[in-house]
Amino acid sequence: MERTLVLIKPDVLERKLMGEIISVYEKTNLHIAAIKIIKPTEQIAEKHYIEHKEKPFYVELIRYITRGEVCALIIEGENAITEVRKINGDTDPEKAEPASIRGKYGISKTENSVHSSDSKESSEREISIWF
Ligand code: CMP
Repeated sequence: MERTLVLIKPDVLERKLMGEIISVYEKTNLHIAAIKIIKPTEQIAEKHYIEHKEKPFYVELIRYITRGEVCALIIEGENAITEVRKINGDTDPEKAEPASIRGKYGISKTENSVHSSDSKESSEREISIWF
């Protein structure tokens, strides 16, 4: 059994699409073990995205994720990390499968609707940041 951290990002909550996205995860065999809405502080955003600190898009990324509310979820189940990454689609909505969440709802590489952990180590680190 595995768990992963999902963030439903401000572009989704602003467009009142949060329920639609939660339903996508709910309809799988995975289990939503925890859920909360939070407006991230800069501190929490910087902790979460520490690995991107030197990237050219970092400032824009922090500005975006802190501009409104985020819905954080812990999703658990067999291969939860890989399964959720598949459901979310490619980071770039233009490259994502049209049926994936980012393919369907993503606006740009920054405003790409959802985040999920990319490994067991990052899922435990990220869960401890948000929960
Ligand atoms: P996320 O899964 O939250 O993890 C890191 C985020 O950085 C990613 O989604 C994107 O929102 C953002 N990102 C990654 N690459 C780029 C890029 N080339 N330009 C802008 N934002 C990016």
